Amino acid sequence: MDEKKHVKFSGRLVFIGFGSVGQGTLPLILRHIDMPRERILIITADERGRKEAAEYGVQYVVKPLRLDNYVKQLEPLLSQGDFLLNLSVDVSSAALIEYCLRRGVMYLDTCIEPWHGMYTDGSLPPSRRSNYGLREVVLAMRKKYPKGATIIPTHGANPGLISHWVKRGMVNIAQDTWGDVKIPKNKKEWARLAMKLGIKAIHCAERDTQVADPRKERFEFANTWSVDGFVSEGRQPSELGWGTHEKHFPVDGHRHGYGCDSAIYLARPGMSVRVRSWTPSEGPYQGFMITHGEAISIADYLTVREKGKAIYRPTCHYAYHPCDDAVLSNHEIAGKNWTLQPKWRIFMDEIFDGVDELGALLMGHPRNAYWFGSRLSIEQARKLAPHNNATSLQVAAGVLSGMVWAMENPEAGIMEPDDLDYRRILDIADPYLGEIVGEYTDWTPLKDRGWLFEEDVDRSDPWQFKNIRVA
Ligand SMILES: NC(=O)c1ccc[n+]([C@@H]2O[C@H](COP(=O)([O-])OP(=O)(O)OC[C@H]3O[C@@H](n4cnc5c(N)ncnc54)[C@H](O)[C@@H]3O)[C@@H](O)[C@H]2O)c1
Repeated sequence: MDEKKHVKFSGRLVFIGFGSVGQGTLPLILRHIDMPRERILIITADERGRKEAAEYGVQYVVKPLRLDNYVKQLEPLLSQGDFLLNLSVDVSSAALIEYCLRRGVMYLDTCIEPWHGMYTDGSLPPSRRSNYGLREVVLAMRKKYPKGATIIPTHGANPGLISHWVKRGMVNIAQDTWGDVKIPKNKKEWARLAMKLGIKAIHCAERDTQVADPRKERFEFANTWSVDGFVSEGRQPSELGWGTHEKHFPVDGHRHGYGCDSAIYLARPGMSVRVRSWTPSEGPYQGFMITHGEAISIADYLTVREKGKAIYRPTCHYAYHPCDDAVLSNHEIAGKNWTLQPKWRIFMDEIFDGVDELGALLMGHPRNAYWFGSRLSIEQARKLAPHNNATSLQVAAGVLSGMVWAMENPEAGIMEPDDLDYRRILDIADPYLGEIVGEYTDWTPLKDRGWLFEEDVDRSDPWQFKNIRVA
């Protein structure tokens, strides 16, 4: 592994949260950012990770941030030129972002989180609690603070690297279709390229096959990353970037009625919404359409407007097949009206096999569909960095690359993943992503569902016949 230092940093770095992503990210930061470890401080809400922090000689404090104490807690720790890395759950990203903008502190997180309890606060309309609503709050700060320290919300793997894979994927398709292609330089040019290619849908297509021993127990939620994070986003209404070509509005779909209008939400938890998608090793699969920031920001970024009217936008959403034990955990809580089990576990050292295949599936262009992303096995992840599984390392690579970009461009203001230079980001992240795969497929979500209809059934095929449901 090339241990090249990408950037020298002389400020202080404060982590908020040190769970699976934090613990996976620290070794990468120490390896690639030239800074003394004495200038790093970790603030969390529990003891998970104390041992790992001690192993690196990094200071560790258990003092959860809340609305009524965060300013007091952060005040003595951060000033202009420092860096706040938010890898927690239940801490408001918007509050920390505004705090940083006022003081000239750089900031990065991997999703836009609200304060504890807001996701389920029935006094707020679902739209305001959605990722769309949370993103609009952050975007509004762009207007209030047009200049300032670099703030990068949502830069893990997805959201995060997925935005860069979409761009790299589009460039590859354009090159394969038309030969040489001019790399777009800004939002307008990227959106025009997507329109010219005719991309109709973009899935963030992920299949995690990691398996552990001991496996999930009864009444336990098991996953390969935050159980808190997964369950809270999974119980949120499903959300998707809404393409201009769509002809049928979902019966339980809602528009937000404010903001960029790139997305809609469904009045159903994402963990209950199944969508079909495709990754190279898995082939077709059924995933969950769980709300994620990239579904909204990519759809917004690739919107082409004429005279203020959107004339082109792809449909964009997550299609997540988590590890099999997380699917079972989800099935268990669905039966209990989404009440979390009394026990939970993040699989790490007990994983004995599996791969996280995560990428962008770009559909509807002249070559039909193209998947571009990372295929990272547990064995590769363990060789590349300590304290990681395949899932956390993909996220940590996104965090590291975003942090380096911020330190190289310290006064860029609020920048979403889509606004960053995908080539610089992927140069930094790629060494941690296992195989970088780009693969075409003739699969579409419509291709192999016709057999559900009587007239499409080949009655000489007993397997098909046995499974038929007459439409
Ligand atoms: N963009 C992506 O690709 C991606 C992928 C995975 C996770 N994530 C996000 O990253 C974040 C961290 O994920 P994880 O798997 O490390 O989670 P985790 O559950 O393993 O850890 C969460 C951490 O937050 C800390 N915490 C909780 N409440 C806190 C508070 N009030 N103040 C300070 N710290 C607090 C906990 O002590 C813990 O250290 C989550 O928000 C998750 O949704 C993003």
